[in-house]
Parts: sequence; structure tokens; C-alpha cells
Amino acid sequence: MSRFLSQRVQRVPHSGIRKFFDIAATMQDVISLGIGEPDFVTPNPIRRAGISSIEAGRTQYTSNSGLLELREAIAAYLERLYGVHYDPETEVLVTVGVSEAMYLIMSAVVNPGDEVIVPDPTYVSYTAEVILTDGIPVLIPTSIDDDFQVSPAAVERAITPKTKAILLGYPNNPTGGVLEHQRMLEVARLAERYDLLVISDEIYDRLVYGVEHVHFAGLPAMKERSVVLGGFSKSHAMTGWRLGFAVGSVEIIGAMRKIHQHTIYVGPYQRTICRPGWLARW
Ligand SMILES: Cc1ncc(COP(=O)(O)O)c(C=O)c1O
Repeated sequence: MSRFLSQRVQRVPHSGIRKFFDIAATMQDVISLGIGEPDFVTPNPIRRAGISSIEAGRTQYTSNSGLLELREAIAAYLERLYGVHYDPETEVLVTVGVSEAMYLIMSAVVNPGDEVIVPDPTYVSYTAEVILTDGIPVLIPTSIDDDFQVSPAAVERAITPKTKAILLGYPNNPTGGVLEHQRMLEVARLAERYDLLVISDEIYDRLVYGVEHVHFAGLPAMKERSVVLGGFSKSHAMTGWRLGFAVGSVEIIGAMRKIHQHTIYVGPYQRTICRPGWLARW
């Protein structure tokens, strides 16, 4: 049957880490080290708010960009933490986790054959998402001797006329590395000099110790040429709620929204019908 499959999907291997996760989930007394799951549950006020929202019957479709109240809250949160202002109407998109946001940004900007520079070791989905959009991931090795920080000189050496974007994932999964401010500035200068987009997955922004997290779009001249992805899975222990966001320019967020509009409608009501036996009964 593989003759029906696209070459694109055949180029992407299945995720090994998710396989481990599924196996571990079937075993008792096994601690899964395979996936970024916080060691606390969603804080009680959030759980209570979810329950009362469902009890109040708020189970319909919401704005496809995400509830305006949530987009306003995200914009206020980022402004308070990082001093960067985003317009909730046009520069913020609520997504089904950073996972969906990553797919959207790749689909929105990568043309066939475009190269995307990715520091390695990397989060399992980055290279797959580039390949799924017919791009070419260009991996730059990082090493423990350098605290797994990407070297701006190595980034510059990897740039070709086909380079479209640099994909940063700091604080990093799986290494825990954080990119120091000076290096971020140097990457930002490269992005300007070579006219590149920077995609910054900052899902671990609240899990840094001893240093202040730097929001990439807050660096000089970077708001126009970067898209920052974030979410609540790690900081608020909300992995199962599937809530993330993308912030960036009106054009890029608008393009991401267009793809989102034609692919996704998911809401909290999923949880109301997934108890054992319920679906069978209906
Ligand atoms: C670096 C990184 N990005 C994105 C994700 C996916 O996050 P979300 O739950 O928001 O889809 C993860 C999850 O482990 C991650 O480690």
C-alpha cells in the first residue's frame, strides 16, 4: 500500500520517543523519562476554571484565532515578562500547542528546497516539520563543551542562497542548554545581514535557572523578522490541554491563521466525551 503514500511522508521517520511514551503508558510503576512532562499537575485554579467553563456550557467553537480574551492575556503576559508589545487582534494566534504552531510556521514560510538551519541535538519534531513542508533541515552540531549553545560562526558558515530561516529551540530540549545573550545578538545580526527569518521555540522560557530568559523578538530589530512560539504545557503543567501560541508580524501570523483555519478546530469539550464507554453509548 505504500505506493499511495507521498514521498514527503516516507522521508520522515516515526517518532521513537512517542513509541517509548506509549509503551511506558501501558506499564505500572514506570517513570517515563521520554517526554517533557512537568512533575506537578495543572494548578487547581486552572482546573477549576476549566470545569466551571464546561459546566456553564461553553463548549462551542471559539474564534478560530483563539478567544480574544486569551489573546489579550497572552499579549499582556509577554509585555509584562519581556516588554514586547503584540497586537492581540493581528499578531497573536492561539494554537493546539507549540506542536501545531511549528507545523503552521513551517507551512507558512517554507518553499520546496528552502533550507532551515537547526542546532543539533534538537527537539524530535523540528527536522520532521521541515521535511514535511518539503524544506531541507541543515543541522549544526552543538557540544557539551560549549553548553550546547549554537555557534554564530557555524550558523554563518551554513547559510546559503537557499536559507530561509534559523530555527532556535532555547532553552533546549533535549540538552537543557540556554543561549547566552551575546550569541543571540550575533544570530540576530546574521538574520538581518542575510535577510532570514528566526523561528524561536520558547516553550521552556519559564524553566531557566540563574539567568533571565530573553524573548528573541525583543532583541533590536527582531520583532519584524522573528516568530516566537510558546505555550502553557510546561510552565503551567498543561500538556494535555493542548494550548500554545505564536506571536509575530501581521503577515506571518495571518498566513499561519489561514492554514490553521483550514485544518483545526479543537476545544475543551474533547474531555467531556472521552470517558470510558461514552462514545460507544452515543
Ligand atoms: C522543545 C519543545 N517544543 C515543543 C513541544 C511541544 O509542546 P506542546 O505541548 O505545546 O505542543 C515540546 C514538548 O515536549 C518541546 O519539548
